[in-house]
Amino acid sequence: MNTKRVLLIVGGGVAAYKALELVRRLRKAGVAVRPVLTAAGARFVTPLSLAALAEDAVRTDLFSLEDEAGMGHIQLSRAADLVLVAPATADLMARAAHGLADDLATTALLATDKPVMMAPAMNVRMWRHPATQRNLATLAADGVAFVGPDEGAMACGEFGPGRMAEPEAIFRAVMQALEGPRARPLAGRRILVTAGPTAEPIDPVRVLTNRSSGKQGYAIAAALADLGAQVTLVSGPTALDVPPGVVRASVETAREMEAACQAALPVDAAICVAAVSDWRPDAVFRVKLKKGHAGPPAVTLVENPDILAGLSAAGPNRPKLVVGFAAETNDLEDNARAKLARKGCDWIVANDVAADAAGETVMGGDQNEVMVIDAQGVERWPRAGKAEVARRLAARIATALAAGVGA
Ligand code: CTP
Repeated sequence: MNTKRVLLIVGGGVAAYKALELVRRLRKAGVAVRPVLTAAGARFVTPLSLAALAEDAVRTDLFSLEDEAGMGHIQLSRAADLVLVAPATADLMARAAHGLADDLATTALLATDKPVMMAPAMNVRMWRHPATQRNLATLAADGVAFVGPDEGAMACGEFGPGRMAEPEAIFRAVMQALEGPRARPLAGRRILVTAGPTAEPIDPVRVLTNRSSGKQGYAIAAALADLGAQVTLVSGPTALDVPPGVVRASVETAREMEAACQAALPVDAAICVAAVSDWRPDAVFRVKLKKGHAGPPAVTLVENPDILAGLSAAGPNRPKLVVGFAAETNDLEDNARAKLARKGCDWIVANDVAADAAGETVMGGDQNEVMVIDAQGVERWPRAGKAEVARRLAARIATALAAGVGA
């Protein structure tokens, strides 16, 4: 087997220490790693540790006489099977998005004709800043694949998305990317997935929500990313980790979910798996409701926007393929068919969410039994794990997009 080669660009962030573990993991799997360390990166890890783990010299200087005698930056960027940036700082992403080439790392990124993958790492506000989100969209449109970032506590003491994905997740994404395009029929496709419940505030401590765990939506996002898609996962509150290669936007309410979905457009396909609350309290009490003597409070509900119907009617921005889910407790097929027509989507994946004889429910469980309904008819899929249902659906989506649905 040919040795696979990765050009690893280590940017200047605290997460640079995780790059060392990543190098170790890649070397153990027989992948050759050629490290490039930015000037800022060298403030966080030493060239010596990187070189020792990579078993190769570390490149740092664009104007190195030895390397540049043979046009080092060009060779460097083309001799690899994959260029990986980990950590990809906000600054490195910004410079790459604008095609700057003011050091060895950005010059290699501009000169390469190989797939590029980035593992962003930065403070949550820097990640959420519109400038970074613009750069992310630009890089994604240029074909750059992303792993992470994860959500969680950060070195700077804040909490949220921005933490670099774990070395193991980056390792798996790299190995998949190195497997080549045959296993990745969705490479270059942008797909939006909604997942999880929504939570509509009633007062500062109470919410209106539902039993969705997000498991099926997350499994679908993971399966689509496995096939090479750039997946944006707009998720309500769940306890699940972001699947490798997926970018998550966390939301709480239906209106936030709708805004995040609109911001993710244009996409090739949208898969609406989220259990969106149909209603929300028309006003949120600013202070906690107390029992008092006035009896139970009246909460008036107003209707939420229908995200699936909105995406199906998005005019020129409409995804080529829009897939909805129908959670029903009775008359599954009839209700699902009616939903297909009412929402204007292309397929409905229908599942029975009533508890079975043994009291097992789909919501929160690990199994699912679905039927897929489109204009052609109904496909009944056998009961299977949610990951298997997700793989099958991702494969069906890949086939449909390859055939140019709606084109
Ligand atoms: N959906 C949505 N936005 C809403 C409600 C539902 O995007 N406000 C999507 C769900 O993600 C799912 C599909 O619509 O893909 C169907 O959801 P479901 O709750 O089964 O249907 P409802 O629209 O609530 O219809 P009904 O009340 O008749 O069951």
